[in-house]
Amino acid sequence: MKRIHFVFVILGLLWISGIALYMSSRQKVEQSIQEEQTKPIQGTRTDKKKLHCDYIDMVYTWVNGSDPKHIDSRTMRSGNTRHSSPGNNRYRDLMGLKYSLRSIKKFAPWIKNVWVVSASQYPTWFDPSSDEVKFIFHEDYYSNQDDLPTFNSNSIESNFYSLPKEVSDCFIYFNDDIFFGAPVSVSDFWDSDAGQAIYKSSWTAPQSKEKQSNIWHACIAYTNDLLNNIWEVDNKNRHYASHGHQFFTREIFDRMYQDLEPEFKKTSANPFRTAHDLQIPFLYLAYVTRFYATYEPTPINYYALIMDDHEKMKKEFAKILAKKPKTVCLNDGLSPDKPNTKVVDELEKFFETYLPERGSWEKSN
Ligand SMILES: *[C@@H]1O[C@H](CO)[C@@H](O)[C@H](O)[C@H]1NC(C)=O
Repeated sequence: MKRIHFVFVILGLLWISGIALYMSSRQKVEQSIQEEQTKPIQGTRTDKKKLHCDYIDMVYTWVNGSDPKHIDSRTMRSGNTRHSSPGNNRYRDLMGLKYSLRSIKKFAPWIKNVWVVSASQYPTWFDPSSDEVKFIFHEDYYSNQDDLPTFNSNSIESNFYSLPKEVSDCFIYFNDDIFFGAPVSVSDFWDSDAGQAIYKSSWTAPQSKEKQSNIWHACIAYTNDLLNNIWEVDNKNRHYASHGHQFFTREIFDRMYQDLEPEFKKTSANPFRTAHDLQIPFLYLAYVTRFYATYEPTPINYYALIMDDHEKMKKEFAKILAKKPKTVCLNDGLSPDKPNTKVVDELEKFFETYLPERGSWEKSN
């Protein structure tokens, strides 16, 4: 090969590699632009903060709405009798708490402390000297005592940021209509590496104006608007939290309270639900998914509505006993004033079959 040809070959090679270099650097630029655009606002999943839990407690809210004192104070506070019906199913007690407490011992013995938040009431079957289950009265943790008495679960939950220090930083939250139906493990709720387990409902906010005539949907739509304002986004697809158990942490409650203090105070001051209340499970889910590491296990909750149809309920209870879901929510849909007593008896039979082991906190009689 002549020397001149050799020089051409070298020049050619340099030219080709120059183009290759240029192309690859362009590709890198394009790639990084693309990465920039697809990067979630708060960074990738892995650099999201992980919630820390030393141990996990259980917190219930419970009320006995048939207690004459409770009825009186409800009537006084509302100034009318709309809220005074003894059977008003928002306040009715179907013995759910009694059996739910039994279910912790049986299916979630790793839960450290059990707390019941109530309006200075104890259930008649409960022995207050128990050190396995402790009560927290509203007046023990509300920062503004003028907000009491309250009959509004939104208000009760909006004060969770100031629960007594003895309550763990991480806790499972049950209304008194939820119980464990099979063994559950910590990782159904939280994992030190993956963060918090989340359970979303298929509902998203906001629902139609029609739906929002229901106050629960209205509170969620209202809370969703607040979030869009503070985060300057237009999110029309924010998921509701699944109806059932919740998992709450103080870290997120502190952050929510810092961002929305006036709203927390307003909700706390409403003795009955209003369409402009914060809806805490929805708010919490929005915060935890935006700022913290989360994962979505297969749903563990079974939801059923208790209705006056006895035959239907017998089948429903049999189904639950056969399926044994990890958590069961039995929502009270019985008629407000004349619940079918056959269904109420059937429910107790169902509970006694499922969870016959009495707790040390139950009065012996
Ligand atoms: C609720 O209060 C009523 C009236 O005082 C009482 O008869 C009933 O046993 C109470 N229920 C529970 C679970 O404490």
